[in-house]
Amino acid sequence: MDPRSEVLLRQAELFQGSVLLAGLPADDLLGRLPDAHGWCWHAGDQAALDARFEGRSHFGVNAPEREFETAVVFLPKAKDLTDYLLNALASRLAGRTLYLVGEKRSGIEGAAKQLNPFGKPRKLDSARHCQLWQVTVANAPEARSLESLAQTYELPLAEGPLTVISLPGVFSHGRLDRGSALLLEHLDKLPSGHLLDFGCGAGVLGAAVKRRYPHNQLTLLDVDAFAAASSRLTLAANGLEAEVITGDGIDAAPMGLSAILSNPPFHVGVHTDYFATENLLRKAAKHLKNGGELRLVANSFLKYQPLIEEHLGVCAIKAEGQGFRIYRAKRG
Ligand SMILES: C[S@@+](CC[C@H](N)C(=O)[O-])C[C@H]1O[C@@H](n2cnc3c(N)ncnc32)[C@H](O)[C@@H]1O
Repeated sequence: MDPRSEVLLRQAELFQGSVLLAGLPADDLLGRLPDAHGWCWHAGDQAALDARFEGRSHFGVNAPEREFETAVVFLPKAKDLTDYLLNALASRLAGRTLYLVGEKRSGIEGAAKQLNPFGKPRKLDSARHCQLWQVTVANAPEARSLESLAQTYELPLAEGPLTVISLPGVFSHGRLDRGSALLLEHLDKLPSGHLLDFGCGAGVLGAAVKRRYPHNQLTLLDVDAFAAASSRLTLAANGLEAEVITGDGIDAAPMGLSAILSNPPFHVGVHTDYFATENLLRKAAKHLKNGGELRLVANSFLKYQPLIEEHLGVCAIKAEGQGFRIYRAKRG
């Protein structure tokens, strides 16, 4: 059981009614709170929740339409995503209670201040390195649209400027990552056919590639519904068409690909991110057709070359700079 769920269950009597659990972990919490429903935007967690509690968790970037008496936000990493979630839920809880739970190392103490606009927050519990906060919503806000929180920037590319739109919580929100910038400089001579942008975030790599090679079919894949929604906005802003899918890891990708491009997830300390990247390197060959290519950027300290050579084929370092490497490997 996730420690945040354990903290909620210490006060289980508060959560017996129709409570909405926003950003809930994929553990047994829904089993312990029979009238609760989830709101999830991580495709892997959603698949696990669906398998165990069919129909009890809503997937997407907008709160479910169904009514709820109270709601709990599980503190996400990004402050602006927390703001979006709290606003979306507080706007529907006038006079009722909104809770925020999170780990101390994730900054729950500071994040609790984000409850101030709605009323007077109160710390209810502190245990398992987590805190549970509560506010009675005295000032219910107007719901802000997600699009109004989007950030936009322009990227000068050889083919003309590319507009990139990102939503709260999405990787490199509002700016271009240095690793992605390096990969953008090394997208020449890609085999044509069906291309995949793995872990697409705001869709910057996919959109740039579609702009440069318009006759190729393109799929963008991310585990996070906010990333997929951002990619759709980026594509639309540039008049580009491609398939955007949510799914957990390379297993969710199509087969018969000509190239996989990625600035793969690497966040230190988060096991699933390492797993997603290692699994990509192990299984890229299965998703690529013969002659298909994997091209990725990674921090130079991450030693991916042996893993790629073991599972795909000869792996060249195409470029190196500012602490990043571009790897290129072909399925032989
Ligand atoms: C380093 S970011 C790169 C984002 C974007 N391609 C760019 O260059 O700005 C890695 C992306 O991988 C996504 N990701 C993490 N785990 C994943 C998984 N299991 N399956 C698919 N995507 C995943 C993250 O949500 C994030 O958007």
